[in-house]
This record gives sequence, structure tokens and C-alpha cells, in this order.
Amino acid sequence: MSNAEKYALGPVPAIPGTDYARVPVDQFRAAVAKVVADAWDETPEKIFAGVDIGKKGADFAVATPRFKKGKPDEWVKKVVDAFKPDNYLSEVKAQGPFLMFTANRASFAYHILNTISKMSAEAEAKPDCQTLAYGTNEDGKGKHMLIDFSSPNIAKPFHAGHLRSTIIGAVIANLHDAAGWKVTRLNYLGDWGTQYGLLSLGFDRYGDEEELKKDPIKHLFKVYVKINQDNAAEKEKFNNGEITDASTTTHAQAQRIFKSMEDGDEAALKQWRRFRDLSIGKLDQTYDTLNVHFDVYWGESQVSDDSILRAIRVCQEKGLTVEEENGALLVDLKKYKLDRAIIRKADGTSIYLTRDIGGAYDKYQKYKFDKHIYVTAHQQALHFKQLFKTVELMGEEYAGKLEHVTFGMVHGMSTRKGNVVFLDDILLDAKDAMHDAMKSNEAKYAQVEDPEETSAIIGATAVKIQDLSGKRLNDYTFNIKRCTSFEGDFGPFIQYSHVRLCSVQRKNPNVHVVETANDIDVSILSQPKIHEILYHLAQYPDVVKTSLKFSEPSTIVTWCFKLSHLVGSAWETIKVSGASEAEAKARLFLFIQIRHVLASAMRLLSLTPIDRM
Ligand code: ARG
Repeated sequence: MSNAEKYALGPVPAIPGTDYARVPVDQFRAAVAKVVADAWDETPEKIFAGVDIGKKGADFAVATPRFKKGKPDEWVKKVVDAFKPDNYLSEVKAQGPFLMFTANRASFAYHILNTISKMSAEAEAKPDCQTLAYGTNEDGKGKHMLIDFSSPNIAKPFHAGHLRSTIIGAVIANLHDAAGWKVTRLNYLGDWGTQYGLLSLGFDRYGDEEELKKDPIKHLFKVYVKINQDNAAEKEKFNNGEITDASTTTHAQAQRIFKSMEDGDEAALKQWRRFRDLSIGKLDQTYDTLNVHFDVYWGESQVSDDSILRAIRVCQEKGLTVEEENGALLVDLKKYKLDRAIIRKADGTSIYLTRDIGGAYDKYQKYKFDKHIYVTAHQQALHFKQLFKTVELMGEEYAGKLEHVTFGMVHGMSTRKGNVVFLDDILLDAKDAMHDAMKSNEAKYAQVEDPEETSAIIGATAVKIQDLSGKRLNDYTFNIKRCTSFEGDFGPFIQYSHVRLCSVQRKNPNVHVVETANDIDVSILSQPKIHEILYHLAQYPDVVKTSLKFSEPSTIVTWCFKLSHLVGSAWETIKVSGASEAEAKARLFLFIQIRHVLASAMRLLSLTPIDRM
């Protein structure tokens, strides 16, 4: 008899929101719900919500008082008396008011492993389709999510806020992929505003073609710093009367250049376009190292004039604006405790907020999104509240579809090269630290095919996991030494666990690698240590859902660390080498499935799982 026949599962009621083919543990929960519901004359749906997984040391637990008033003993007894073991559950015990169910562990092992291996095979057969592997769901099927993340400013350094936005945004985007959403990743560059007039002027004064081509981001930043120094010095002179004609200052010139850019002056735009293109080229390389990708580079400069004018017009028509004497126009959101905010400057040019209002309209016309997430530091909370409120008051149909995801600050971020942080340098530092650590084990190091690439990947892992480990709203202190450490819950440990799961197969070339869970004796896999691991794997689909629901990548990170620890402590007891043929076959199959799930979780976190280190 095949495992499929031996462990065939009887019918259980369908519970709204569940998908047994993808999440077998829910089918087991439904079985618990059915047993209890039948004994109590309740509906399984109602009980299902109260079936706890892995609490109180039981596989599944139900707290009687949650559903029934009166003496719990009697209610507990009703269930215990009616219970019959099957392929779902092997026994039920009473523990005070709790019903403690034990899964039929061989059957549980079979169904979990069978689902993982089947779904992994499907996903492998269609590598461009991320939504097939175990852990994915179809909650977002047919819906489109647009995400604006990373979004650095050209000429200004990529700061910690952009780093966090990049790392967190990438995970949120991946989570939506995993939930079947169509996802568009958009980088909204800060590439417009008076500062670009200033940058143009700065380049005329201090620019160097060669340097620009070599490293556009660093060079433009250098130019930007110098011209800002001119600006500051002049401001002082103006204040103490040394300069009297304000129209000749660097600032005034920059304003004029930006005005001509806004008016579409080709000469002014040509220079700016070059800066933008070169910066994007460089950014692309860095995003590549981070394993983060964008579908579109957009930006403040790309917001259409029409939608900016429309935004201002609609705000005026709806009576949301007040005009200042100098001609500046503001939206008045005082009623909503959101202050007043400028949407048109005195010289008629637009501003960050105006461009976001117009931009939302442009993006909605183009993408018709069902949800649009913006990922930025907490400091911009007011800006986004103002944006969302204004759009709502304008009566836009997409107003309810906008969402702001924020995060806490990073302290202590600096690189060996100084306090202004360039993302490149951070990644290089992390890479070097990892490379040094790898070299300390000469034998292993010799086997790594491309140590440069491997150390870059683990370095990026270290930086990302440090960022994603805590709740996103918490601040954290950047510490390159700590986060690249092999000891403790840091990024390298997760990579190491994956490497170990790869090496168990490499080291046992004589053990037959079976294709499906039908080809192993699952009863071998009912020892408690293994059950604990299977249980953890069983909950993964739920972890993915929770992580998306709260836009909280740390949920996945915590799950990965727990898995890594569980597996780490299993190597001693669950041996492949030296075991009987049947044991070795079953255990290797288990480890391969664990590896599949860990690798998918890592990919969700935008990590690149490696095979050797
Ligand atoms: N460029 C902005 C900054 O560096 C972030 C842009 C966020 N996205 C947006 N649509 N406002 O602060």
C-alpha cells in the first residue's frame, strides 16, 4: 500500500479562508474542529478559530471556556468519549479545561512533506513563477500592488533611511508576490526641485567629466557639497550686509535654473538628464548586489504637469486651499490636525507634496492598482498623512488604496571611509568582514568556488538580517562587526544552516534521493525532534500570511532562526550517514524538504541562499 493510500485523509468541512492543498496543517485543524464541533453540537467554523497550534505542549489544543460556559469537565468528557483515532489524530487528552490533541504523526509527516516536495517541484519547473512553492497562497489573485520603495535622491547620499526602505520594501514586495498579487516595484527618485538647479550650477563650477563617469553618485555628491558650502557662505554675507543684491546669489541662480527646467528648457534639462541616467546606472549595480530589482525608475521629475495643475485646481475647487500674500498656495488641513502644507510655491513651482499628489493620480491612471504602498522612514509620517488626506478630500477614487509603511531609525551608521554613508561602502565593508571570516577555515575556503561572490552575498545577508530582525518600527544600532558574526542570531547563521542542509546531501552520495514522500517509510519520521521540525514547517504558510498582514518581515526572520536552531540541534540525533538504508533515505528526504522551505523563506527576505561557504 502506498503512503497516499495508507494515510488517506477523510473529508473535513471546508473552512472559509483555508486552502488544504497548500496548507495541510489547516486540514488537520479542521479535523480537530470537526471532532469538537460534533461532540458539542457547534459549527466547525466557529471551533476552527479556537484550535491552537503547538500551545501547551499539545499538537493542537482547544480551550473549553472559550466556547462553553459551565463545568469544563463535562464538555471535555463529551469530546474524549466520542473520539476515535484516524489518519488525522491519534489521541485526545484532557488537561484541566483544555483538550489536548496529538496528531497521527506518521500521517502528519507524510502530508506535510508531500505538500512541500510537490509544490517545490512545481515551482522549480516554472522558475519565473514565485507563487507556486510551499508557503505561498492566492489571497491576492487578480489584484495589483504598486510599491514605491528605496527612492533615493540623486546627488544626495543614499542614507540609512533609503537602505531600510530598500530592504523592507523588497520583502513586502516579495510577500505580495507570494500571495499571488501582481506586483510593480517602483523607484521614485528624488530627481526634481531647486536642488537640481543647484547641482547643475555646482557642476559648472566644480564638475569633472572623468570623475562623473567613474562614480556618478559620489562625484555628484561632492559637487553638491561644495556648491552648498558656497551657498551657506553667501547666506552669511547676505545676512551681515556684505552682499546686498539677492538676485545674484548662488541660491537665486539655482532657482532660476530649476525654473527653466520646469519650463522645459532643453539645455537645462540635458545636463540634468545626464546626471539622472548615470546615477541610475550606478544604482542598478548596487541594487544588484543587494538582490533587489525594480520594474520602473520613475521619480519626482516624471510627474506630469497636467496632473500637478489638476491637483491644484481640484484642491481649489473643493475649497481646500488658502493663498498667501506672496502667491504661495497651501492646503489647509488644520481641521484634521495635519497643519497647513504648501502645494505651490510663490514662484509658481511645485514641491514634494504637490508632486506626490499629482504622482498618485498619474500612477493610478497607468497601473489601476488595488493597493499602493509607500515605504519611508517614520520622519515622513506627516507628509504621507497630508498626502492621503488631501487625496481623500479631493474625492479621488484611489484614496483608500494608499498605504504608508514606516520604520524606525538606524543609529551609528558609518563606514571606514567616514560618516557620510554610501551604500556601496557599507556592502564592501560587510563583504570584507565575511571574506576574512571565511578565510579562517582554510580547508573549507579552498572549496568555495567564487569566494568574492560568496562573501558579497553573505555580507549583504548580514546587513539585511540585522535590519529585518527587529520589529520594523524599532530603531537599531548598526554594527558591522556584530551582524557579520557567525555566532548568534545573525545573517551568516541562516546562510550557514542552508549550507549544512546542502552538504548533508553532498556528503552522502550513496543515499538514494527519492522523488516523493510516497517513496519513504514515514513512520521513521515520528521521533519527537523531527515532529518538532515538521510542526515548524507546517506553520510556515501562516507565518507568510501574518508577515504580509502586518508588513512585518521580522516574523519571517524569527521563523528562519527558529528553524535553523531546530535543525542545528538535530544533526546529532537524526543522522543520515551510518543509518540503515530506510532511515537514511527518509531522513535525507526530510532534510531536502527543510532546505526547500528555508530557501523559499530566504528568497522572500530577498537573500540568495548559498550552497557552500
Ligand atoms: N526621495 C524621498 C526621500 O529621500 C523618498 C520618496 C518616497 N516616496 C514618495 N513617493 N514620496 O526622502
